[in-house]
Amino acid sequence: MVEGGTRVAAGDLRGVVALDGPSGTGKSTVARRLAGLLGARYLDTGSMYRAVTLAVLRAGADPADEARVIPIAEAVDLRVGTDPAAPTVHIGDEDVAHEIRGGPVTRAVSAVSAIARVRELLVADQRAIIERELDRGAGIVVEGRDIGTVVAPGAALKIFLTASSDARARRRARQDTAEGRMSTVDEARRDVDRRDRLDSSRSASPLRAAEDAVAVDTTELDLMGVLDRLVAIVDERGLRGVAAGSDQNTLRAGW
Ligand code: DC
Repeated sequence: MVEGGTRVAAGDLRGVVALDGPSGTGKSTVARRLAGLLGARYLDTGSMYRAVTLAVLRAGADPADEARVIPIAEAVDLRVGTDPAAPTVHIGDEDVAHEIRGGPVTRAVSAVSAIARVRELLVADQRAIIERELDRGAGIVVEGRDIGTVVAPGAALKIFLTASSDARARRRARQDTAEGRMSTVDEARRDVDRRDRLDSSRSASPLRAAEDAVAVDTTELDLMGVLDRLVAIVDERGLRGVAAGSDQNTLRAGW
């Protein structure tokens, strides 16, 4: 389900920007800010895998036990908002945005997201959300691991963010600390490396760059540096509308 309305103006993004990459590359911050700059909607697909994982943990199920996890994933009432100024994630009416970032969910989410049926369910939801925003005339920045390869293979622009393992561990530790979770750089490095290994080696939609993705290494760039690069690529490709609601149909063909 999508919450919130959309107004499209000249200069806004048209179509889909897919932003993939491992954790700690600054992906979430970059995707959100990029969507805001481009007057687009924003979808954090990782928050959906995290919310399903929270439901699994609350049910007392083993995150790797497919027979227990699948019915929970099928039943969960997941609601995701796409406003980049205030992205939301709810299970039913409950705001779970904070809880899904905690240690228990972060440790269990790779196991849940490796289950093919879970991916099938969430990819269908993600496509429905994207479709709905495009139908409203909005553009959308979608972040995850398989957006350019599976969720929106026809996206107008695919970006694959990378960064050195050191830079990713430092960023993740800083983010954890800023959000009130105790985390050292070594702990963050172990978590980032462990999740990368699991996310890249699973058989269902492993993390990998789409062949036509533009790789952007964020190791030496700050947030504004990354945003400048991405906005320049969007403009080189002529992905901003010249008039409200113009020409969405050509861009959405085959996304
Ligand atoms: O981006 P994140 O750290 O919030 O993502 C949480 C987990 O969800 C990540 O370890 C892998 C999984 N994920 C996925 O498998 N596919 C996506 N499109 C997004 C996230």
